[in-house]
Amino acid sequence: MAKSEIAHLLVFVGLFLSYVSSEIQFETCNKNLKRDRYVSRNNVNSSCGCDESRKAPRIITWSNKKRKCSFMNIDNDDVVVFTVATNDTDGFRRYVRSARVNGFDDKLKVLGFGEVWKGGNVRKYAGGGHKVNLFKKALEEYKDDTEKIIIFTDSYDLVFLSDLDTILEKFKEFDSRILFSAESNCWPDKSLASKYPSVARGKRFLNSGGIIGFATDLYSILSYREIEDSDDDQLFFTHIYLDPELREKHKIKLDHKSEIFQNLYGAVADVELRFKGNDAYLQNTAYNTVPLVVHGNGISKIVLNYLGNYLAQAWSPEEGCLNCWDDAIELPKNKPENYPVILIAIFIEKPMPFLEEFFEKIYTQTYPKSKLHLFIHNHVPYHKDVIDNFIEKHGDEYKSVKKILPDDRIDEVAARNLAMDHCLLKKCSGYFSIDAEAHLDNEHTLRLLVEQQRGIVAPLLIRPFKAWSNFWGAVTDDGFYARSSDYMQIIHNERRGLWNVPFISSCYLINSTIIRNKETRPSYSEGDLDPDMAFASANRERLIFMYVSNRLEFGHLVIPDSFDTSLTNPDLYQIFDNKLDWEKRYIHENYSKNFEEGQVPIQPCPDVYWFPIINTRMTKEMIEIMENFGQWSDGSNKDSRLRDGYENVPTRDIHMNQVNFERQWLYLLKEYVRPLQELVFLGYYHDPPRSLMNFVVRYRPDEQPSLRPHHDSSTYTINIALNKAGVDYEGGGCRFIRYDCAVTDTKPGWMLMHPGRLTHYHEGLIVTKGTRYIMISFVDP
Ligand SMILES: *[C@@H]1O[C@H](CO)[C@@H](O)[C@H](O)[C@H]1NC(C)=O
Ligand SMILES: *[C@@H]1O[C@H](CO)[C@@H](O)[C@H](O)[C@H]1NC(C)=O
Ligand SMILES: *[C@@H]1O[C@H](CO)[C@@H](O)[C@H](O)[C@H]1NC(C)=O
Repeated sequence: MAKSEIAHLLVFVGLFLSYVSSEIQFETCNKNLKRDRYVSRNNVNSSCGCDESRKAPRIITWSNKKRKCSFMNIDNDDVVVFTVATNDTDGFRRYVRSARVNGFDDKLKVLGFGEVWKGGNVRKYAGGGHKVNLFKKALEEYKDDTEKIIIFTDSYDLVFLSDLDTILEKFKEFDSRILFSAESNCWPDKSLASKYPSVARGKRFLNSGGIIGFATDLYSILSYREIEDSDDDQLFFTHIYLDPELREKHKIKLDHKSEIFQNLYGAVADVELRFKGNDAYLQNTAYNTVPLVVHGNGISKIVLNYLGNYLAQAWSPEEGCLNCWDDAIELPKNKPENYPVILIAIFIEKPMPFLEEFFEKIYTQTYPKSKLHLFIHNHVPYHKDVIDNFIEKHGDEYKSVKKILPDDRIDEVAARNLAMDHCLLKKCSGYFSIDAEAHLDNEHTLRLLVEQQRGIVAPLLIRPFKAWSNFWGAVTDDGFYARSSDYMQIIHNERRGLWNVPFISSCYLINSTIIRNKETRPSYSEGDLDPDMAFASANRERLIFMYVSNRLEFGHLVIPDSFDTSLTNPDLYQIFDNKLDWEKRYIHENYSKNFEEGQVPIQPCPDVYWFPIINTRMTKEMIEIMENFGQWSDGSNKDSRLRDGYENVPTRDIHMNQVNFERQWLYLLKEYVRPLQELVFLGYYHDPPRSLMNFVVRYRPDEQPSLRPHHDSSTYTINIALNKAGVDYEGGGCRFIRYDCAVTDTKPGWMLMHPGRLTHYHEGLIVTKGTRYIMISFVDP
């Protein structure tokens, strides 16, 4: 039974060891240059699939621009892939990447790049005519080229899942001259639904997000009627498709069963993410097809983001995260002058346990302080001292420190805006927002996040032993929490990588270009949403990706829920909610050595064992709690705190339940004392240990200096010294009469453990000077 407790501690130690070794892992990984990986993968996977008789070269790399592979007279060189994208958004980068890993980024022609978008907000309203006009203009060049095949798709919400040859081959099978993707919604004009030809199986209605066809036919239908930039492109194409004459003439067809194009809106339940060997692919289970292009139209964008974490060689079961290496940089340790300037914005919005440790972990980040500005918003008067101490001690080392205090009466939303303004004022390159609950146990976190080079990226932080983290894997249509199917695998680190998710909070790095641009600057207020919900919601709305990384362990979240600052030393009461932090702060640093193989427990007297258990911080805080409470018993036999009102061997003491520490104390007995008992008194198991009498005793020459010989009403007794013999007091100690053996040089935080009755008749030796405090429990009376 003790084993499990030890294991628990070992896990804790292991956690910290893994932080230490984290850097090494990162650097080894970095050696796998991403380009090599793509080349080698394409050699294996991306062969044309055409057989030898067609004389196609089979070994190709994505950088080989001259590749040819023909199917039934369609030559790869006769294909142009068009899209319209006015901005270099995260989605656009994902789209280009998917073309690149599939070997045809050289075929991309991006229309409208850098232009002002006139097609309206197509997420909310109809629109997109601008797109059609740009396309038409671009097609003029090819309008008489009877060989040319054109692929025209959206880009911000679309990912290619296969190479061009496979797409062309499939297109050929349709025996069509223009093929549109299909969806289950008739949009934007529902009244046109009845005009559509019926289909036995498959999606019935046209979607304009994916088109493939011959240039001549496409140019011809685009010229058929005019469209305003602000008109709806899908409606435009729908009218063409619904014209039987045009449909016949240009052999216009819809991809009803997602043989090429998978639209996700209204079809999320049709698809499954699957793995074949080392590759992720999309399976349409409704029509038993394997789509080659996936489009997250409408609100299905979040599902596309999820799928995009895996598809198009983004992640593989064997190699893990592949897209992590895209754009990543390395910040050399010996060149701190090259590090981008970051503003660390710290938000203390509510009372928070273990705030000192929070600041220590900010301080120990391996990022040159000469490149760091600090901004601290403190909303909690209780925390003033910790912050003041930190700034006094370390403030000078940072480029600058700005502090907003409770008296400034600035609320959270205003403070977050102020912090971003301050970042711009200081010409920051990155904005690192961190709430006081986020503990960065990995000292390299900030550097690693900068090296990752994403617009917004968060380190994965979890509440230890809980399923609660600082991200959501999915979100409901109305913006609330939903669990993605990979959520548990991610928080348990069974899948490591960089995940595009719909919600992050607590800690994240934002590239300042996002803050600088009015259209993308983070917003923390929206209706009555909490600031973090508003932040995520605005980013989703603006199609700004939020990544969370669990490539390494970064840290954890502290739980503030039961933190009660009206107590003296409230952190000491946090043993339940924040056990790991509590252990780190209060358990003796050599506690786990008690359990080491070959460790012989110290035995100062026969069957009296002596262990380090709590540290001097806890002993000091325990005394403070008691003295602050101050109601020491009077040392008489009459004791109203006991059931029978009578104490046979009275001391001056305060019971744990008088300071509301009883529950915590019993848990400490169970978690940290019991395993030691099982170590030395073999064969006795009692879990949880019971104890009615838990108290701190005070011995003073002018009060009660000693205790007469007695037995304890316990199976075993523990006696933890809270202060230092020879320093805080003189004399004192515990003498076991049967053995004529005394322990007098007691050490703070060390525990004596001995049987309660019969053999261990004992007395408290006289304190001649000062005050001696000990903490006592009679276990299993
Ligand atoms: C898109 O690009 C245009 C032109 O470069 C720019 O004015 C606009 O702010 C950008 N919008 C976003 C959302 O980045
Ligand atoms: C922000 O983005 C720019 C341009 O992509 C990059 O040069 C800069 O290093 C980024 N800043 C940080 C802190 O990552
Ligand atoms: C823990 O053990 C080490 C090695 O024996 C010792 O140097 C150190 O002082 C001990 N720590 C405390 C707090 O006693």
